[in-house]
Amino acid sequence: MTRVFSGIQPTGNLTLGNYLGAMRRWAQTDQHQTDSVFCVVDLHALTVDQDPARLRRLSRQTAMLMLAAGLDPEVCTVFLQSHVDEHTRLSYLLECVASDGEMRRMIQYKEKVARQRERGASVRLSLLTYPVLMAADILGYGADEVPVGDDQVQHVELARDLAVRFNQRYGHTFVVPKATRPAVAARVMNLQNPTAKMGKSDDSGLGVVYLLDEPDVVRKKIMRAVTDSGRSVEYDREGRPGIANLLEILAACTGGDPEALAGAYESYGALKKDTAEAVLEVLEPVRARHRELCTDPAHVEGVLRDGAEKARAMARPTVDAAYRAIGLLPPAFETALSAVGR
Ligand code: TYM
Repeated sequence: MTRVFSGIQPTGNLTLGNYLGAMRRWAQTDQHQTDSVFCVVDLHALTVDQDPARLRRLSRQTAMLMLAAGLDPEVCTVFLQSHVDEHTRLSYLLECVASDGEMRRMIQYKEKVARQRERGASVRLSLLTYPVLMAADILGYGADEVPVGDDQVQHVELARDLAVRFNQRYGHTFVVPKATRPAVAARVMNLQNPTAKMGKSDDSGLGVVYLLDEPDVVRKKIMRAVTDSGRSVEYDREGRPGIANLLEILAACTGGDPEALAGAYESYGALKKDTAEAVLEVLEPVRARHRELCTDPAHVEGVLRDGAEKARAMARPTVDAAYRAIGLLPPAFETALSAVGR
């Protein structure tokens, strides 16, 4: 059976981009059709400065929203990355097959470094090695597929490269994974700046629809989305990014096609209104389940505890095999050496 792995960082409140680009597919298809593993990647969050209490709160909230989005622990595995040591164990080995140059070429690294330098903040070393930890997340579970939004495709390609390189040098150890992207809304853009991605850490929040925004707030944000001075509704990502973004969001929420939907509208106002209502319809069940889960934190804790146990059992054999393949002695090395005849 196909193994799927994906993750989400608890660095801020989850957004419509996270939902349409990744989480919705996890819940609606991946978990039913594959052997799926989904992770709150809390260690990744530490690549930038975090207030410990806020990180704890957001880690819990992210897990809760994954369940609220429909992940069912009966059919998939949901856990926190820091609860399973295999991720960091494997990450170090992969750092020993990755090169400094390929890390520095990662687009997200370059963008984040530029932003941090602008603010005069120092850059953590872990920001540079972050894609290797992400590769370890994926390779440790033998994942065939990694459902992500556009911005993570380059990182999944690095995981592929590292798997191939490790296998060539040390013998077949890892499954070579591939990224899968949604047909529409693989890159939901910021409503106030439609040439930038809708991200969790946008400072003003006006251009970002958060999953837990109240309906009136969602309406206001979408009705105020930046468009352009044109009048006709056309699907043109380069020339009309604001309108194209709304059409993609509407298409993703209603199951339509952005180009075809463009022909159905004569005014920006009507497009915005329908987009807002379609987004609310998609988010309402998530918000309702989230409210329920908030009343039962012990349930969520139990899910994460069981999930970590399952995840550990899945990742351990592969990570142990990688340790042996690269030349590290297992703890009981006398027995192991005689077993392989050396
Ligand atoms: P993160 O936490 O930034 O985002 C989680 C998922 O949401 C997708 N996404 C978007 N999709 C469309 N439009 C957007 N505006 C948008 N914003 C976010 C992301 O592509 C992602 O699929 N490095 C990863 C987390 C990670 C991971 C992994 C993912 C760590 N280890 C292993 C897959 C497999 C990240 O920062 O995602």
